[in-house]
Amino acid sequence: MQWLPEYKDDVERVERFNFVARITHWGHTVTFLLCLFTGLVLFLDGVDWLAAIFGGYAGAGLVHRIAAVLLTILLAIFVVFDFKGIISWIKDILRFGMNDIKFVMSFPLEFFGFPVKIPPQTRFNGGEKGNSIVTPTMVILLVLSGYIMWFPSIFPAGLVRVAYPTHDIAMILATCMVCMHGYLGSFHTGSGESFWGMWKGTVRADWAKHHHAVWYEETYGDKADAE
Ligand code: HEM
Ligand code: HEM
Repeated sequence: MQWLPEYKDDVERVERFNFVARITHWGHTVTFLLCLFTGLVLFLDGVDWLAAIFGGYAGAGLVHRIAAVLLTILLAIFVVFDFKGIISWIKDILRFGMNDIKFVMSFPLEFFGFPVKIPPQTRFNGGEKGNSIVTPTMVILLVLSGYIMWFPSIFPAGLVRVAYPTHDIAMILATCMVCMHGYLGSFHTGSGESFWGMWKGTVRADWAKHHHAVWYEETYGDKADAE
C-alpha cells in the first residue's frame, strides 16, 4: 500500500515553498507536537504512561518549556527571513472570493473520492486560506498565553486568570485543525502531491495547473511571461 504519491523527478516541476518556509514549517510541526503531548500530561487526568515518556511530570513540564522556546525562535526566524513570503501569503488570503466558497462547498465530495470540478484556485485554496487564518491565530494565542502562565508574577492577575482557559481552548482548536491539515497535506489521495511541495520545495506542474490554476497561470504560465 502506498501512503504518499510517488515523487517524480522526470516530469516538469515548479517551486511552491522556499527553504525558510519549509524548515520553519517542519520545525513548527515537531515543536507543536512536543508541546501538545507534554501539555496533555498536565491537561488530562491519569496519563502516567504519557508522563513516563518524558521522564515524569516534571520532565514533561521541562520539555514543554524547551519546545515552546524553540517554537518561538522558529516564528521569529520565519518573520525575519521570509517577511516577503508572509506578506504575499496574507495578500493571497485576502483574495478570498466566490471560487474559494465553491471550493469549500464541493470539498466534502472530493474528500470522499467523488469526481468534482475544482474552481480555479489562487496559491492557497479556500480550505488552506481558512487554515492559514485559524491555525496561526491559535498558535499566537498559545504563545502569548503560555508566557503569561510561565511568568505570572510580571503580569496582572486578571490576565493570568484568562491565560489558562485561552491556552486550553487554543490548544483544542489548533489540534483539531492540525489533525485535518496533517492528513490532507500527506495521505489524502487528491492533495498528497502538496506534501512534496512542503518537503522538497516543488510540485508537479500538471498538479499545480489542476489544483491552483490561478496561481500557476500568474507565476509560471502565460500571465507570468507577459509581465
Ligand atoms: C510559546 C509557546 C508555549 C508556552 C510558553 C507554553 C507554556 C505553558 C505553561 C507555562 C504551562 C503551565 C505548565 C505547568 O503548569 O507546569 C502550559 C500548559 C499547557 N500547555 Fe503550553 N505553552 C506553549 C505552547 C503550547 C502549545 C503549542 C500547546 C499545544 C498544542 C500547549 C498545550 C498546553 C497544555 C494542554 C497545557 C496544560 C494546561 C492545563 O493544565 O490546563 N502549549 N504551557
Ligand atoms: C502533522 C503533520 C503536517 C503535515 C503533513 C503538514 C503538511 C503541510 C503541507 C503539505 C502544506 C502545504 C500545502 C500547500 O501546498 O499549500 C502545509 C502548509 C501549512 N501548514 Fe502544515 N503540515 C503539518 C503540520 C502542521 C502544523 C503542526 C502546523 C501549525 C501548527 C501547520 C501549519 C501549516 C500552515 C499554516 C500552512 C499554510 C496553509 C495551508 O496550506 O493550509 N502544519 N502543511
